[in-house]
Amino acid sequence: MTNPLAPSWLELPADPNALVPSVWSHNSERADSGELTIAGVTATELAARFGTPVYVVDEADVRDRARGIRDSFDREFGRIGSSVKVYYAGKAFLSTQVAAWMIADGLNIDVCSGGELAVALAGGADPARLGLHGNNKSLAEIDRAVGVGLGAIVIDSLIEIERVADAASRHGRVQPVRLRVNSGVHAHTHEYLATAREDQKFGIPLADVAATVAQIRSHDSLEFLGLHSHIGSQIFESDGFAEAARRLFAVHVALLADGPVPELNLGGGFGIAYNGADVALPIDTLAANLADSVAQLAAEFGVPVPVIAIEPGRAIIGPSTTTLYTVGTIKDVLVEGADVRKYVSVDGGMSDNIRPALYAADYSVRIANRSSAADAALVRIAGKHCESGDIVVHADYLPGDVQPGDLLGVPATGAYGWAMASNYNYLGRPPVVAVRDGEARIIVRGETEEDLLRRDAGLEPAFMKDNS
Ligand code: LLP
Repeated sequence: MTNPLAPSWLELPADPNALVPSVWSHNSERADSGELTIAGVTATELAARFGTPVYVVDEADVRDRARGIRDSFDREFGRIGSSVKVYYAGKAFLSTQVAAWMIADGLNIDVCSGGELAVALAGGADPARLGLHGNNKSLAEIDRAVGVGLGAIVIDSLIEIERVADAASRHGRVQPVRLRVNSGVHAHTHEYLATAREDQKFGIPLADVAATVAQIRSHDSLEFLGLHSHIGSQIFESDGFAEAARRLFAVHVALLADGPVPELNLGGGFGIAYNGADVALPIDTLAANLADSVAQLAAEFGVPVPVIAIEPGRAIIGPSTTTLYTVGTIKDVLVEGADVRKYVSVDGGMSDNIRPALYAADYSVRIANRSSAADAALVRIAGKHCESGDIVVHADYLPGDVQPGDLLGVPATGAYGWAMASNYNYLGRPPVVAVRDGEARIIVRGETEEDLLRRDAGLEPAFMKDNS
C-alpha cells in the first residue's frame, strides 16, 4: 500500500523485487533462486568472499558505457566534419584498473590532483592522454605534470600562467594548455540558471578571456589549445551545454584572429538515473544535440568546427556499480502518530556514500540475497554512524519481510561514492570488486583496523613494538 510518508516522486512498485533497468548495471539480474547476480556472480557469494559493505563494479557495463560515449560522440561530431577527445573524469572514481580500462577503450583521462595523476600513471596511462585540472594546483603538481609530458593542463587563473610557463621552460617543453572559462552558465539537475557573472572559484570571466589568452600566447613554452567550460554535474538536459557552447564560441572566434584555437572543451556533467523517477538523456541524443549546436555556431560565425573535448565521469562509472550491505537492525518508527516508516540499518553509511547526506541524493534499494512475495513496505536505509543524517536511501519500497542478515543492493553508486568515502567513526573504506563473466576480483582492497592504526603516530614506539 502507498505510504503517505513516501515522497511524491516515489511510486509504489508492482513488484518490490524488480530491478529497474535504468538504475541497475547492464549485467544485473535476479537468478532463478531469486538472488541478485551481477555479471553472473551472486550477491551471497560476493558478500561471503569480500564482506560487506562492498562496491561491486560490473566491468563490462563501465567499458560499454565508455566506448558507447566515445562512439556516439565520434559519430555525431564526425557527421559535422569534426572529431572528439573523450576524457574520463577520474575524480568520479579512479583506480589503476579503471585507468587501464579507459586507456584500453580509447579514452583519455582527466585528473585533478597529484594523487589522481599518480594513480593514472601507475595504471599505465600515456601522459600525453592525460589532462590536469584544478583551481589551485600546487607547484609540485604542475612540475610533475609538465615533467612527465602531460597532454593538457587546464589553466584556471592568471597566476597559473606564469607557474606553468616556468615549469615548461625548466623542463624544456612546450606545454599544451587550455583556459577554463566561467561562462556564467551553471546547470542544475533539471534546469539551468544563467547569470552574468557567477560567484564561484573556477575559471576566468568571459570578459577577461582575450587578455588572458594573449598572455598565454606570449610564452614560447605554452601552446594554447582552446577554451574549457564545465557547467555543473548530474545535468539531464542538453540546453545548458548548448548555451555554454554559444557563449564560449563568440570568444573562441575572436581568438582565432590572433592565432590557432584548435579545440573547445565542453567539460562533463551528463546526468544518470539514481532511482526509478530519474530520466537521463540518452547519450546518443546528447551527442547529436551538441553536434547540431556546435555545427550551427560554426556556420553562423563562418569558422571551422573545432575539435571538441568532453569530460564525463559519472555517466561512465556511476551506473556500473552496486554497493552491497548487510542489514543489522530494523525499527518500525511511528511518524507523528500516524504512519510507519521502517528504518533498516546497514553496516556502512555516510562513510561509504556521503551523497545522500551532502546533496540529498535519492538512491534506490533492493533485497539482494533473495526475492520475497511479501507486500511492499516503505523503508529508509540508515547507516551505522552516530548521526541521524546518516542515510543511504531516503525512501524506497522493499518487501515488508526484510530482516536482519538480508543483503541489500544499492545501485548506481559508482561515481563519487568510494571517491568521497571517509574513515568517519573509524570505519575502514570498503573494497572495490570487479565482476565479469562469473568471476570476481578485488581492484581496491578494503581498509583493515591495521590500516587505520598505521597512520596513528601517537603511541608510535609501543605500536611499532607490538606490530612490527
Ligand atoms: N570536468 C570538470 C572540470 C569537473 O569539475 C567535473 C566534475 C567533471 C568534468 C566530471 O563531471 P561528471 O561528468 O562526473 O558529472 N561530488 C559531486 C560531483 C562533483 C563534480 C565535480 N566536477 C557529486 O557527488 O554529485
